[in-house]
Amino acid sequence: MATKIYLSTTGAITDPEDARISVFDRGFLYGDSVYETMRTAGGRPIELGRHFERLHRSAAGIGLTIPFADEMLEQTIAQCHAASENLESYVRVIVTRGTGPLMLDPRRSEHPTLVIIVQPLSVPSEEVYRRGLSVVIVGTTKTQGGLVDPAIKSGNYLGSILALRQAIAEGGEDAILCTGAGEIAEGATSNVFYVVGGPDGIELRTPDLQAGLLAGITRELVCELAVELGLPVHTHRVWPDELRAADEVFLTSSVRGIMPVTTLDGRSISGGVEGVTTARLRARYDAYLDACTRG
Ligand SMILES: Cc1ncc(COP(=O)(O)O)c(C=O)c1O
Repeated sequence: MATKIYLSTTGAITDPEDARISVFDRGFLYGDSVYETMRTAGGRPIELGRHFERLHRSAAGIGLTIPFADEMLEQTIAQCHAASENLESYVRVIVTRGTGPLMLDPRRSEHPTLVIIVQPLSVPSEEVYRRGLSVVIVGTTKTQGGLVDPAIKSGNYLGSILALRQAIAEGGEDAILCTGAGEIAEGATSNVFYVVGGPDGIELRTPDLQAGLLAGITRELVCELAVELGLPVHTHRVWPDELRAADEVFLTSSVRGIMPVTTLDGRSISGGVEGVTTARLRARYDAYLDACTRG
């Protein structure tokens, strides 16, 4: 098992200690980049098509044309995974606007840099999924100032980093961010779902994309899997008190999948253990991963 890195500047797959990029790369200088994070199942990245689609959407959102064909990206990921000899890998694909003079003007950088990082996949243990996470709703928002559309997965994650810092300072393990209007938006690196038992039965709810959040690939998948299980899914404007009063809460992301939240702002959710509906969905998601592994 190993970490392997591809750099378009050399065209080679290397070990981490040999992977060097220029300090004049705008990804480093300004977070002038876009990226995708995914995991493999059966050695192949899952939902690669949706990840590439979002990568191009993010790039278009910052006026960056990706000069690398999807086929080249797919082949290089496969080569990095093979070179790593990992059973399963965590995969990060980063495209920066490239190097240029030390000035903000993006027109002076003509050659985007591609970096692909492949590491051994590490997911939380089953015990962590069962006990769930302690999460804090932080007042800060990624959209404060409204400069970068949260639907763009850019290399600037300061909003999420500061939110996570605050959550940790308050004794939490993860953070949920709000919009400028105070609605629930998303987790620091995840989307948020909650379960309520309405008069017509159980339903799943998640903040609407219009709130300003990343359209998570796992969010989309979970919506599809829920419908297969006969669970209705509704998108809403969600306020913190509604989330705090939910029967169950969970976060979704490509690497952790479905992660239960069992403490929210210091208060216990679903009795402090993974909720029944969350467990049902997680089992369905695991079956989906198994099917991907079998090909
Ligand atoms: C801000 C943010 N929201 C949501 C997600 C979940 O997206 P996905 O399910 O595509 O991994 C991520 C993943 O990194 C994220 O960074």
